[in-house]
Amino acid sequence: MRSLPKLLSCICLSLALAAPALLDAQGFDNPNWWRHAVIYEIYPRSFADSNGDGIGDLNGITRRLDYLKGLGVDAIWITPFYPSPQVDFGYDISDYRAIDPQFGTMADFDRLVAEAKKRDIRIINDMVLNHTSDKDPWFIESASSRNNPKADWYIWADGKPNGQPPNNWQSDFGGSAWQYVKARNQYYYHEFYKEQPDLNWRNPAVKNAMFDICRFWMKKGVMGFRLDAITSLFEDVALKDEPYLTGPEAGLNEYGEKKLRHIYTDNLPEVHDILRQLRQVVNEYPGRILIGETYLPNVGELAKMYGRNNDELQLPMDTQLGFTNHFSVPDFRAKLKDAETRLNGNVPLFVFENHDNPRSINRYGDGTHDAAIARLLATILLTPRDAALIYYGEEIGMVNHDPKSRDEVQDPVGRKYWPKNKGRDGERTPMQWNAGPDAGFSTAAKTWLPVGGDYKTVNVAAEEKDPDSLLNYYKKLIQLRRENAQLRDGDFVSVDESNNNVLSYLRKKDGRAVVVSLNFTASPQTVNLTGKGVSGRHAKTILASYANPGNTNDLSNISLPPYGAYIAEVQP
Ligand code: GLC
Ligand code: CA
Repeated sequence: MRSLPKLLSCICLSLALAAPALLDAQGFDNPNWWRHAVIYEIYPRSFADSNGDGIGDLNGITRRLDYLKGLGVDAIWITPFYPSPQVDFGYDISDYRAIDPQFGTMADFDRLVAEAKKRDIRIINDMVLNHTSDKDPWFIESASSRNNPKADWYIWADGKPNGQPPNNWQSDFGGSAWQYVKARNQYYYHEFYKEQPDLNWRNPAVKNAMFDICRFWMKKGVMGFRLDAITSLFEDVALKDEPYLTGPEAGLNEYGEKKLRHIYTDNLPEVHDILRQLRQVVNEYPGRILIGETYLPNVGELAKMYGRNNDELQLPMDTQLGFTNHFSVPDFRAKLKDAETRLNGNVPLFVFENHDNPRSINRYGDGTHDAAIARLLATILLTPRDAALIYYGEEIGMVNHDPKSRDEVQDPVGRKYWPKNKGRDGERTPMQWNAGPDAGFSTAAKTWLPVGGDYKTVNVAAEEKDPDSLLNYYKKLIQLRRENAQLRDGDFVSVDESNNNVLSYLRKKDGRAVVVSLNFTASPQTVNLTGKGVSGRHAKTILASYANPGNTNDLSNISLPPYGAYIAEVQP
């Protein structure tokens, strides 16, 4: 999460060797399932509450599997549900092999995996390898003395002679990244909250323990992992001070501290050694995948996350396109082309929303055409050659519901830096299922975060009934990308590149092409695609984000309403 502005081949071979008989039925038998997958991120506290305590849980997810099946998702990534003091709402894990009672039991989890599998939906766990909770028995032992068996499991260092922290490294959540512990008369490093001490990945015992935890979950049928903060695994051994940013990048961060260039705490080359080894572990089980939380500065660094021999992550997140945060055709075109042409042919994983960033409409909407802009973004997410991440509620157009006062804030970072930083509660509010009490999320008198004020109209039940809703547009797009051979497997070709109002591209396969044209402006536009890498005269409409697109269009004169998205088959 470091470089975010706000907080902001051979697998086929090895799988072929792993006896196909091991691959199970029910649609789980395709080791390449992830290549054009739609993966749905669930923040379990906020998705569905089955027992009325105001906090979402695993049984809540199980009850909603039919909805996810209907949407067309291939997998769900659930953010951490392991036992945790919940300082960072689950990203501070104190037991990696169990379920936090507020989310349910291991039996509930096993049932979720089994029920999901019946619906051809895979479960992806969030795996936090960079740090544990300070209440994890590993850390408690490590912190107890300088010579206990786990003394070297975390990043410990002496303070400066004057008692100050070892160096100038900063926590992503503000302040020094070092915390003093009296029992050792030493400091430990924490990239995130002080309750999240960083593990020492140079210690093979740490690595082996974590790899065994991954095996534990894969044996339970988990189909892969989303690796949290994966570029943060290593820090410089000499603990050198990080340099301050200079030039146009210089300045203060959102906590009022001078910005550092994170060359000694982020994206160190050793990360790749671990990813290669972890990929081997994952390859022990068929069809398993690794997704990475990879906020990287450029496409070159992102390309490296796949591994030199495609032996690291299958799906590192592309955070360049979805977090462009600038609604402009040249910017989107550049980022799309980067992902499609500069990742060595690998599949990009596009993402517009997650639990750490404001909802996409809050970043790209103009307040007037938000409904159309949401459809346009959905089209960019689901029609390139990519795997796609959807964050719960994105498909119904949920927006941020930021806390109104400091005492409402749950996310510690928002409480500490209010009102400059309101924390991440706004993008984590309960899923809006219907127009009833608690939006159908819960039956509690008070939910852990308040339900968004727009739930009477923005909800699943209302949108399921409305054929023109955003939800039904998502469903159509997802179905299309499964059924249409060009959209499923076709090459991506950018066309009409001198047009700064409309973004157009083709998906080509077997001599046929599908064209996608997206109007990024508030005025109607016409595009002429003939002779611009498109051979054909007519476009046969497949899907449009607006009413009455017509059955066919002349390729030399496609009309698009404001923010309209148009998908058509090119006819000779
Ligand atoms: C990742 C998570 C974020 C969490 C942080 C520390 O960035 O997405 O929610 O706070 O890691 O685990
Ligand atoms: Ca509950």
